[in-house]
Amino acid sequence: MLSKVSKLSPAKVNLTFKVLGKRLDGYHAIETLMQAVSLFDRLHFSFSSDTITCSDPSIPCDSHNLVWRARQLFRNATDIYEPIAIDIEKKIPVQAGLGGGSSNAATTLFALNEIFQKPLSEKKLVELGAELGSDVPFFFSTGSALCSGRGEIFTDQSHLNKGLTIVKPQHLHLSTPEVYKHAIVGEGLEHAAFKVLPELKQVKANLLEIFEEVIMSGSGTAFVCFGQPKSTLPDDFSSFACSPIQKNSGEWYTLEHVQSV
Ligand code: C5P
Repeated sequence: MLSKVSKLSPAKVNLTFKVLGKRLDGYHAIETLMQAVSLFDRLHFSFSSDTITCSDPSIPCDSHNLVWRARQLFRNATDIYEPIAIDIEKKIPVQAGLGGGSSNAATTLFALNEIFQKPLSEKKLVELGAELGSDVPFFFSTGSALCSGRGEIFTDQSHLNKGLTIVKPQHLHLSTPEVYKHAIVGEGLEHAAFKVLPELKQVKANLLEIFEEVIMSGSGTAFVCFGQPKSTLPDDFSSFACSPIQKNSGEWYTLEHVQSV
């Protein structure tokens, strides 16, 4: 076994979003077009200790962390209990609707399965992913997919063929369950996010002065922006120029999968 393995863990954006109804299990039935993009965390796996660490000290590294839980699910499913250290190099903003935690969980499942000579099928990895969170299975798609159910059922699509800028207001965060509490059937999550965090509506209005098209990603607070910016962004925004990424199923994301657009 290699002494160290590193994997990219991409962000996702939601290009369309529709809430179809409230389910009996408390989740919402949704339909959303998701695209993996070239904003990456990196996960580093090594095997001399059994720890989870993160470059962002504000992120818990205990059982609240989806990477911790993914490692646990992999162990339960395979009876492989060797020490596994996972270091998360965080770049994807949290509480932003960019799927960072879900991507980290999917990356952990894929990487551990590869490192330990594929004891689990890809289908099983997707099932374990769905136990961890609604957005986790998407990362096993080709990177462009229409997602339904509570988000966990994916159908591959052709990738977005243009670049985008992800813009995140630095001091505004949203909790996904909190946003869903205000969801209205037939709508996306934008108006629900504006209800929880009214200042976000003005943020979108300001971004529309700068970009041609502005779409909130998932439950927010990051926005997907298209077009050349007409002016510079205020200092309290983080922005990331991104390209779509697309891979074959059965592979994991590498820099070669970043599309030239
Ligand atoms: O699946 P995940 O753990 O990411 O979902 C977090 C929370 O977001 C859920 O507990 C639920 O409150 C809400 N949610 C929802 N409908 C979905 C996905 C998430 O209501 N389709």
